[in-house]
Amino acid sequence: MLRPRRNRKNSAIREMVAETNLSVSNLIFPLFLEDENSAKIEINSMPGIFRYGESELFAEVESCLELGINSFVLFPSVKEEYKTDDAAYAVSDENYYLKRILALKEKFPSITLMSDVALDPYSSHGQDGLVKNGKILNDETVEILSEMSVLQAQAGIDIIGPSDMMDGRVGAIRLNLDVNGYEDVSIMSYTAKYASAFYGPFRDALDSAPKGGDKKTYQMNPSNKREALLEAQLDFEEGADFLMVKPALSYLDIISDLSMNFDIPIAAYNVSGEYAMVKAAAEKGWINSDAIMHEILLSIRRAGATSILTYFAKEFAIKNS
Ligand code: PBG
Repeated sequence: MLRPRRNRKNSAIREMVAETNLSVSNLIFPLFLEDENSAKIEINSMPGIFRYGESELFAEVESCLELGINSFVLFPSVKEEYKTDDAAYAVSDENYYLKRILALKEKFPSITLMSDVALDPYSSHGQDGLVKNGKILNDETVEILSEMSVLQAQAGIDIIGPSDMMDGRVGAIRLNLDVNGYEDVSIMSYTAKYASAFYGPFRDALDSAPKGGDKKTYQMNPSNKREALLEAQLDFEEGADFLMVKPALSYLDIISDLSMNFDIPIAAYNVSGEYAMVKAAAEKGWINSDAIMHEILLSIRRAGATSILTYFAKEFAIKNS
């Protein structure tokens, strides 16, 4: 009789036959920025996650480095007075986001920094692209996104993160980076980004929810799987270095499909709503937060993601150090 239980009989054996493992080096920690020097503001719907002004940001990055977290993705919270219909602040030399990138790379040369490229933090309407007569303009938006990318590269970013889902933006960004001498700057494309309700707490954090309507004409329909392969094919051909799936948990099948079909690293974004659900249930004492965190991150790796963007990064590092 075949007895699979023999391979589970003690923890050494279980670990010896473990097919997937999880390490801090797989994790990318999202950091929200605040345009004030000393601010540290906790996000209501994301306990333990803050928006940081410059000095607090330095302190946070330093404590993460001590825990072995070396990779970060930065999201700017933009003052209301800088938000306009054309999102001009996104490509302004004055954009404090660029200054933060520069300052971080100067202070911590060994870190890997990933950016966010989309217009929603900067636009008064909260859409990721330019809007005209109620329509989200594609090609006009792509032009701004590729300009943003070059500015971020100039500031020292390592990985460009287009999170907007416009068609053709990866190719346009790649070309613009290359002609400006930034051929070593990578692109992690939000390839299969779904129009998801799981982004709610993130939009609270940045006050970036669309003022009217939704994002369904550019973010993908949660019912679609084959379409993710098409998006992946395009991003791959346009020069993406990583393909990302977002959200992660309701889309493990998509992560798995992409990892079987494309030979570049697959990333997954364990998004704000996924984090908030765990925290809320844990606060009520209904679940064991540590065990659930571990199981969630492991499942995303098992599905085929090499790297995981997750708000749990620091907590995971603390529990495993
Ligand atoms: C915006 C952007 C969003 C997230 C990352 N970049 C929200 C959205 O598309 O509305 C969501 C991340 C999260 O929920 O943790 N381009």
